[in-house]
Amino acid sequence: MSLTLAILKPDAVGSSKAGKILAHLEGAGFRVRALKLLSLSKEQAGAFYAVHRERGFYAELVEFMTSGPVIPMVLEADDAVAKLRGAIGATDPAEAAPGTVRKLFAESKGRNAIHASDSDENAKGEIAFFFSEYDRIAVR
Ligand code: RTP
Ligand code: MG
Repeated sequence: MSLTLAILKPDAVGSSKAGKILAHLEGAGFRVRALKLLSLSKEQAGAFYAVHRERGFYAELVEFMTSGPVIPMVLEADDAVAKLRGAIGATDPAEAAPGTVRKLFAESKGRNAIHASDSDENAKGEIAFFFSEYDRIAVR
């Protein structure tokens, strides 16, 4: 078993789809190991997506990620990173496969319902970004 980080984004939380997405992920075999609701500051959202700071969509992405509360969560499964990337689908919901979270619940490429870590190394850093060791006692 391994861990990954998901974030239910402001579009999903604001339109009351968080429960449906969580149920979908649990149904796909993920177990929730840590979870909270919070609002990101501009500094936090900018730091989280710092890898994209030179991209044209960066300011829009930071604006969107700070437009309402988000729900970061630690998910556990066999090969969790790859499994979750598969379960969420392509970045643009128009290109996402049927049955994926983004196809089912996302509005657009910018407002695409969910984030998922893209490597084990990034998952480790992203989990630590949101959750302390204390929060993750249940994970061990
Ligand atoms: P994420 O990091 O949120 O899981 O998304 P991803 O890997 O599928 O896509 P990535 O390339 O990492 O882009 C991060 C987020 O930036 C927004 N985006 N907007 N308007 C655009 O062309 C555009 N491109 C990317 C999306 O919210 C995307 O999830
Ligand atoms: Mg990404």
